[in-house]
Parts: sequence; structure tokens; C-alpha cells
Amino acid sequence: MSRKILVATGGGDCPGLNAVIRGIVKRAMMEPEEWEIYGCIESFNGILRDEVELMRLTERRVSGLHVKGGTIIKTTNKGGPFRFPVRQPDGSWITEDRSQLMKQRLEEMGFEAVINIGGDGSQGISMQLANIGINVVGVPKTIDNDLSSTDFTFGFQTAVQIATEALDKLVTTADSHNRVFIMEVMGRDAGWIALHTALAGGADVCIIPEIPYDPAAIAKKIETRYLNGMGFCNIVIAEGAKKADGKVTGSAPTAAGDEHIKLGGVGEVLRQELIKLGVEHDIRVTVLGHLQRGGTPVAYDRILATEFGVKAFELVKEKKYGNLVVYRHPDITYVPIEEAIRSPHLVQPDKDFLVHTAKGIGICFGDED
Ligand code: F6P
Repeated sequence: MSRKILVATGGGDCPGLNAVIRGIVKRAMMEPEEWEIYGCIESFNGILRDEVELMRLTERRVSGLHVKGGTIIKTTNKGGPFRFPVRQPDGSWITEDRSQLMKQRLEEMGFEAVINIGGDGSQGISMQLANIGINVVGVPKTIDNDLSSTDFTFGFQTAVQIATEALDKLVTTADSHNRVFIMEVMGRDAGWIALHTALAGGADVCIIPEIPYDPAAIAKKIETRYLNGMGFCNIVIAEGAKKADGKVTGSAPTAAGDEHIKLGGVGEVLRQELIKLGVEHDIRVTVLGHLQRGGTPVAYDRILATEFGVKAFELVKEKKYGNLVVYRHPDITYVPIEEAIRSPHLVQPDKDFLVHTAKGIGICFGDED
């Protein structure tokens, strides 16, 4: 009898998800015994809905997937087995705990384990599933690189590459028009994308959530650049950036099962603050948004994702459940999921050499007066 694994991708999509799926399937096909791998459509919704929706992942089906962005088995960052959104006859939504239904269906269908590929929210669900007796292995994913326990998550390098190429373009147009450009990047509460992009793309100012910014310090940096004859200024700002009051910019969640504030708009807020402070140069804002998550993964992410896929399968084979695959240079190894989600991986301004390097070449973080 063949052995069965269910694979799900949860949370926001991320370049490299398909490469993980391909890695799992290809590795399973190397085994002498038969393994059947199924994708659960739209995270765990595929097994939680009244009509079950799974996709058989054969070697033929995953062929060439390492290059493809997104996830062929779809994803969602709303709901999940413990907070499944259900529409009421009056059109409103409630959430329902369907975790026992999921457990029962997994047993009935003969799945011996689940591989859950996702970020902190999804791994929180992995842990809850493990707590009710489901055999789970987690694979970390996020463009934000904000998961502790792993040196890098796949998708991050691709996001940085996309943002850097965008900044390169803004630099030439800013230079031509003597403008100030503010480029807003993703990253949620972590400044990793902004910091790497600012360094790689040669920004003059880098604003990250971990360092509260003072608009006056940024205005001063802009003026200094113009006085020194540089004639333009490029600012990279992380979507989660905040001033000393700690308030982030975004909109409240609207959909059932969605708990997160949707960050966005801090670039425009900063523009208004700079105008109020008397900055008279032409200031333009570019919000990169989901461009950072789409398209083909860079080679680094394809490799890391494939390594994660292979390791995830091997953990299932060895019945090492309740663990998250991680990269700890030079090893691909694993840690208990519980430990992995305990605290986020944020920039440590006083410790990270990247911040030291950025300051060392004159990048302003908006924290000086
Ligand atoms: O976590 C990945 C991420 O792209 C964040 O950088 C961003 O804040 C969030 O997801 C956006 O999510 P959504 O696509 O649901 O708006």
C-alpha cells in the first residue's frame, strides 16, 4: 500500500513555493516504496470545505515547476482549520473550528502526514494541528525573512532583487529631474527587504520599523544632499515604518478570518510630513506592492526551496513530526515548530552589521536630529 502526504501552501504567496512542492515530489519518487503526494487546494480550505478539493502531484505535474512563481495549489491568508470562515444566510460571516473535521478526513483518506509551507501565521496553525494529534512538518516561507530559527526564508532574495531593480530605475529618473523619490517596500514589521534594497540599490535614506523615524532628520538629510550639489535623493521606506508614537499606516482587516492590519501608505504619509516641514523639492512616491511577490524566483531561492522540499519529505519519512525545516548555515536542519514561532526575526539596529555598514556609507535611518 502506498504512503500518502498532504501538502498545503498558506499565507501570502512567495516565489519558490512551487520549487518546494517539486522538491517534495521528486524526492518522494526516489524512494523504493510508493508515495502519493497530494496538494490541498487554497491552503487547508481544500480539505475543510464541504466538497474536498485536492490535486495529485505526480512527477509529471511538478516538472519544470522550480521556475514558476506563485503556487499551483493556491493559497490564502484568511481563516484556517481553527477559524474557518462560514457565510451565514443573512450574508454575514462567522468563523468555525473545523480542525476535528480535518483530522477525521485525513484519517479516512489515509494521509499519514501534512507538510505545511507557510510563514509565522501558517506555522502557528501547524503547531495547533500538531497539538490535536496531526502529524505535521512545517516549511518556512516568506518574502519578509522575519522567521527566527532560519538564516533565510526562500522568496526573500527574489523580493530584494525586484526591489533593487526598481530602485535602480528610480535613481536614474530622480537624478534626471532633481527629485526626491520615496519607494515603499513590503516586509510587514521587519525591515529586511528595505535594508537590503537600500544597500544594494544605493539609497540615501532607509526607514525601517525597527528604528522609529523623525521626519525632521530625513528633511535635513535631503537638504544636505541638495546643498552638497547631489541634486536628488532616494528614500526606501518599509511598509511597517513608524515614528516614536509607534503607529503604523494601513487599513483594518475586512474579511472574516483575517486578523492582520493591511499595511500600506506610509510613503505618502512621509511625503506629506516632508512637505509640512518645508521641503520644496518635487517628492514622488512609488509603492512596489505585490510586484515583490510575483514572478520567477531567483536562483538562490530556487535552490533553498528545493533543499527545504527534500528535507521536509525526509522528516516525514523519518516520522520527525512537529518540526520546522530550517536553514542554519551550512546545514538544512529542523527545529520544533513551537520554538520557531516564539519570536519574530527583526533587524537589530545595534547588532546587525548591515545597519552598521549602511550608516558607515552615510545612509540615514531618520533617527538623527
Ligand atoms: O508577508 C508577506 C507580505 O507580502 C507582507 O510583506 C505584506 O505586508 C503582506 O504579505 C501583504 O498581504 P496581502 O497580500 O494579503 O495584502
